[in-house]
Amino acid sequence: MNGNPNWSKVLVMIGICALAVVACEDADQSSRADQNVYKPRPKGQVTFAEDVAPILFSRCSECHRPGQSAPFSLLSYDDIAKRSKQIVEVIESGYMPPWLPDQAKGTFINERILSATEKGLIRQWHTDGAPEGNPEKAPAVPEFNDGWKLGPPDLIVRLPQEFVIPAEGPDIYRNFVIPLEELGDQKFVRTVDFRPLNPKVVHHMVL
Ligand code: HEC
Repeated sequence: MNGNPNWSKVLVMIGICALAVVACEDADQSSRADQNVYKPRPKGQVTFAEDVAPILFSRCSECHRPGQSAPFSLLSYDDIAKRSKQIVEVIESGYMPPWLPDQAKGTFINERILSATEKGLIRQWHTDGAPEGNPEKAPAVPEFNDGWKLGPPDLIVRLPQEFVIPAEGPDIYRNFVIPLEELGDQKFVRTVDFRPLNPKVVHHMVL
């Protein structure tokens, strides 16, 4: 390891991140505790337009829209109301939104999780019969940028050739080696985004 300067840099980076996580966790402890219990509102007061749409549009629609990985859209009252029972089940089981890190271990930037209040609002809305409320009060249906979400990249690398996925069959896990000579000697990489040619058939990637 001593002979390889890349390794020591990687270890230093990890050390810094770990400290930052502990600091965030302490600062957030009290605000997190406040959000741990949902106090139900009088029946009928929780509506799609004012309570549920803002949560689902910001936490679910990015994947649940045409051309993305999720199997159906969650972009309108009709899309969402007809699935209200299933939506409650998947958010309470933790299956959706997809997020694997253990929350007991600290907090991350851009965590994909719902607070107890958000989950409580969605559950109460479903139990109250999924009322729409006043559509004029709903947030605008989100628009997504299908280009590079993090801004124009400094470097774009591609698979040497396309990998064709059969129309049917089990999930395929596949290792690809992508040459990075263009990166030069040593570089810190700030962000990485990936763009499958067909997002419908790629559900995740481990880098
Ligand atoms: C990062 C992308 C992503 C996000 C964000 C996301 N989903 Fe999904 N969702 C998926 C994918 C992919 C599937 C299909 C998974 C599968 O078939 O196992 C799915 C499946 C589902 C299903 C069907 C589950 C089943 O058993 O068939 C429901 C319901 C659902 N999502 C609701 C939600 C809700 C509600 C949110 C927001 C709180 C959300 N999803 C956020 C990608 C996402």
